[in-house]
Amino acid sequence: MTFAGVRRGPLQAGERVTLTDTKGRRKSLVLRDGAVWHTTNGAVSHDDLIGGPEGVVVRSVGGMEWLAFRPILNEFMVSMPREAAVIYPKDAAQILMWTDIYPGARVLEAGVGSGALTLALLRAVGPEGRLMSYERRPEFAEVAARNVDAFLGTEHPSWTLTVGDLVESITDDPIDRAILDMLAPWECVDVVAERMVPGGILCCYVATTTQLGRVADTLRAHGGFTEPVMTETTVRDWHAEGLAIRPGHATSSHTGFLLTSKRLAPGQVAPMRKRRPAPGAYGADYVGPRPRNIPERLGGAPAAHGEAQQPPAVEHERQEGPCHDDERALRSASGRHADGHAAQPGDQP
Ligand SMILES: C[S@@+](CC[C@H](N)C(=O)[O-])C[C@H]1O[C@@H](n2cnc3c(N)ncnc32)[C@H](O)[C@@H]1O
Repeated sequence: MTFAGVRRGPLQAGERVTLTDTKGRRKSLVLRDGAVWHTTNGAVSHDDLIGGPEGVVVRSVGGMEWLAFRPILNEFMVSMPREAAVIYPKDAAQILMWTDIYPGARVLEAGVGSGALTLALLRAVGPEGRLMSYERRPEFAEVAARNVDAFLGTEHPSWTLTVGDLVESITDDPIDRAILDMLAPWECVDVVAERMVPGGILCCYVATTTQLGRVADTLRAHGGFTEPVMTETTVRDWHAEGLAIRPGHATSSHTGFLLTSKRLAPGQVAPMRKRRPAPGAYGADYVGPRPRNIPERLGGAPAAHGEAQQPPAVEHERQEGPCHDDERALRSASGRHADGHAAQPGDQP
């Protein structure tokens, strides 16, 4: 039988169901033989659900009605027990597309946290792929393993979960895709790069602009990756009922930023950029890693011993662009840097 990783057939004791009331409020329950869920409108017996199909209406003793369904993946990701913050479905969906995860891919993931992204990745790589997950906190790894088991109802043939710091415990297996969701992904760039196949894709999910800048510049300083692409995803829900058509109230607020970049072939270094960095980007106040593909006089890293000297030609970036003073005015007016980063406490005005 083909592994589907999805529960089907009659509801069984031990699996989770979501009950939704007539006001849209949800309750997540793990079904147990003989158990009873007590509501303000009387009890609901688990036995009324066990053995039956999903999509049924159950009634409490007091006459309240609930619709019962198995949680689908995106519902489970936000309702399952968690220790660490999870990647939300809207971001997981973007990760799967922008990192081009495919059935059979060899994917590395760190950290695992509560296992929300793990579930999405397992589904995408399928039984022919490999998901190598690393989590340095054993108590989080345990929660993730329980969540994966609870959702799938069985072991996934493609999954290995290693408890340990990624840098110390990473194996030598080749990697097609890597997703880093942790506080300091830049610390793991070298070990991932060493094992990633040419054309492989690295994705970092970070919560703050400071982390975003640090990891982007770490990749530029590494030199073996393409210029990173960075995005933030906002999902806006809508309400449509007769003549009342308007944005809903559940629009997601900030969760995190996604950065993706492709691995170059071994020994290759990203070509010199033709565009200057934004003025001041790598100025006197900048203390982070320095890109290898811009000249040193513009803030790039000094050429390593034996490395070809960087060609001097760098085109002036858009002559019509704002000058320094205009930029400062723009920044203070909008609260954002000219390159779009939100201004941070301690930034120069
Ligand atoms: C925000 S959580 C990950 C959430 C997870 N992606 C999910 O969707 O449920 C970040 C996790 O990374 C782990 N972590 C941080 N640095 C790590 C490293 N170098 N190696 C392995 N795990 C790491 C932390 O212990 C934490 O559990």
